[in-house]
Amino acid sequence: MDRARSRAPLLAAAAILLLAMASAPLAATSEPEENVDNASLQQPPVAPGLSFDFYRRSCPRAETIVRDFVKDAVRRDIGLAAGLLRLHFHDCFVQGCDASVLLDGSATGPGEQQAPPNLTLRPSAFKAINDIRDRLERECRGPVVSCSDILALAARDSVVFSGGPSYPVPLGRRDSAHFATPQDVLSGLPAPSSTVPGLLNVVRRIGLDEADLVALSGGHTIGLAHCSSFEDRLFPRPDPTISPSFLGQLKNTCPAKGVDRRRELDFRTPNRFDNKYYVNLVNREGLFVSDQDLFTNGATRNIVGRFAQSQKDFFRQFGVSMVKMGQINVLTGSQGQIRRNCSARNPGTVPWSDVLVEAAAESLGLF
Ligand code: HEM
Repeated sequence: MDRARSRAPLLAAAAILLLAMASAPLAATSEPEENVDNASLQQPPVAPGLSFDFYRRSCPRAETIVRDFVKDAVRRDIGLAAGLLRLHFHDCFVQGCDASVLLDGSATGPGEQQAPPNLTLRPSAFKAINDIRDRLERECRGPVVSCSDILALAARDSVVFSGGPSYPVPLGRRDSAHFATPQDVLSGLPAPSSTVPGLLNVVRRIGLDEADLVALSGGHTIGLAHCSSFEDRLFPRPDPTISPSFLGQLKNTCPAKGVDRRRELDFRTPNRFDNKYYVNLVNREGLFVSDQDLFTNGATRNIVGRFAQSQKDFFRQFGVSMVKMGQINVLTGSQGQIRRNCSARNPGTVPWSDVLVEAAAESLGLF
């Protein structure tokens, strides 16, 4: 009896603690923040024509040169890490990882950069890729390393230098001489207003699945977004899935429609690549519909919950999914070209539109 009485305050304290834990926002994982070496984990197969030692003979220091550059540049401007990661994603989802997003428009039409989703890509990221390419050209005596490989490596190193996992990047991509149309960009890159069915529709077309979608969306653990990307959730009526305190924060940044300001994608740890993005989603603090719906929709909810609990699980899946994404529709062997300037096709390359005009003229018997 005495024993039971002496335990009573302890039990009461434990009950209060449990209640507090249940009602408090889900806290960050207690796991140590570590970089996961994915080399020992199950990685997707390497696409034919790519290999991990592609530049072993032609430019053995290629990876080191990219890493040193990114390390230095990200230390000076942490936003560049977000810019480089997003640039690789916008390259791969449209026409494959062929560096077509880097091509300036030409007389034949506007390039991919002129399409709405690409208007907010960071100019500093484009410049960094060209600067890395120049450095590689000097050190490797010529145009040896493709712009698409530079993009893939710079994205990986951006993740690492902002606190995320490392993963092995297969190399040997070649660059396209042709950019996609603005319509292709729009259909390849989902809008921030998309819900899970629409998102899955897009990613399945390019060989990715639910786990890839959830893990890759975790790229939103760093970087910024303009009010225009999420103001539809605030006006004329607030989206009821947004938690009241987060809604207050969003309205502070974007008090009316049309305000040109930016806010962090992950307000908990905006500059750190970690799993807090998922903690935000569980607490109804996702910035875009495309983020929050990953937790609302039953098809992806459990994966979000798992990544919110375990940073290690997130890091592991992120590495696998980035390798998958980085191999979408790659050009290899004698396809494409190694661009001498990442912003322009090599001189003498025939643009697509000319190829099409010639083919049409030929079929009409004009020559
Ligand atoms: C799944 C569908 C996705 C949608 C709808 C989406 C949409 C967006 C939008 C609208 C922005 C903000 C643009 C602005 O207002 O300036 C953004 C930023 C960003 N996205 Fe995504 N995104 C998606 C997937 C991804 C993926 C797969 C990655 C990388 C693996 C990624 C990485 C980023 C990063 C790092 C930023 C911040 C860029 C910066 O600060 O410059 N996103 N995204």
